[in-house]
Amino acid sequence: ETVNSEKELPTTSATENGHREPFVIGVAGGSASGKTTVCEMIIEQLHDQRIVLVSQESFYYNLSKEEMARVHEYNFDHPDAFDTEKLLSCMEDLKSGLAVNIPNYDFKTHKNILPARKVNPSDVIILEGILVFHDPRVRELMNMKIFVDTDADIRLARRIRRDTVDKSRDIRTVLDQYSKFVKPAFEDFILPTKKYADIIIPRGGDNHVAVDLIVQHICAKLGQHDLCKIYSNLYVIQSTFQI
Ligand code: C5P
Repeated sequence: ETVNSEKELPTTSATENGHREPFVIGVAGGSASGKTTVCEMIIEQLHDQRIVLVSQESFYYNLSKEEMARVHEYNFDHPDAFDTEKLLSCMEDLKSGLAVNIPNYDFKTHKNILPARKVNPSDVIILEGILVFHDPRVRELMNMKIFVDTDADIRLARRIRRDTVDKSRDIRTVLDQYSKFVKPAFEDFILPTKKYADIIIPRGGDNHVAVDLIVQHICAKLGQHDLCKIYSNLYVIQSTFQI
């Protein structure tokens, strides 16, 4: 497909006139399903928009001394592990065009560390996390809901690699946490939220076609269809060369 270079490209962002609400995308799915990769692919293709990524992980409650002492018994995969009220108020502020401070969560200490991340108003807000579809009030803020659906064995393999290599945890702890908390919580809380998704992406970040279609839709909603078509064509060319 050729690109008409004569055509005038839109130069203003969607919220510059101050009237349009940001487009909110929710990305849910099991741990290590490829949520972040999908978000990064969307962000890369939408790079002309002011776009911000918010992670549910930033809203984990800080552990108390007692909880820290028995951290291996703490369920980080349960909906109650998150400060959903704070997440909701940050998302509401962002949706109404206000800047917010997003807590900075540290996986080593299981606590927030300073400084918080200041997030400015944007055209597109992506909220990703294992349980972002769990609370109906959070779901209602979303204009598009995506569930990243990746096989359990792939998720476990990725999780082992990530937790042992990036988080320096030992393999026994990782496997214990997986069988005790991660797997049951996926079945009890995460999988049941798949029904709320508008789009289910099989194979996560490997699914370029799905991401391409999603980006086309977002662009149409933002009224920047031509621009995105050009970017997604460039993206396809770029990924083809990467292969
Ligand atoms: O990035 P991902 O979606 O995998 O992040 C969620 C996972 O992080 C949860 O499955 C939870 O078990 C894990 N987690 C952890 N230690 C923490 C906080 C979260 O292992 N302190």
